[in-house]
Amino acid sequence: MYNDKVMEAFAHPKNVGFIEDADGVGKVGNASCGDIMEISLKIKDDVIVDAKFRTFGCAAAIATSSTATEMVKGMTVDEALKLTNKKVVEVLEGLPPQKIHCSVLAEEAIKKAIEDYRSRQSK
Ligand code: FES
Repeated sequence: MYNDKVMEAFAHPKNVGFIEDADGVGKVGNASCGDIMEISLKIKDDVIVDAKFRTFGCAAAIATSSTATEMVKGMTVDEALKLTNKKVVEVLEGLPPQKIHCSVLAEEAIKKAIEDYRSRQSK
């Protein structure tokens, strides 16, 4: 059901874990399947220098979070806010239609982690 790129990202996921001294953390749940995704970001001068994820989600959630966390490293927070699940799925050369909802988890968790970063900044 998955293409080779997705299988590779699932079998050897990058950035699994949690950044203990993260500058922003975002945790989201998937309404359709109940799975959870947490993304932690290390940010210096508004640039994402590290990103990690942990999830109870499926293979598609793992593959898209691995890819999304790789993509946001080196981006400014404004650039990362524009990263959509569609772009991540494009990099992975597609997901089965019934698995698209899984790719939304990474996008939403990154956005939430950036919101958390910004709220910590304004304190
Ligand atoms: Fe829940 Fe994919 S089925 S994240």
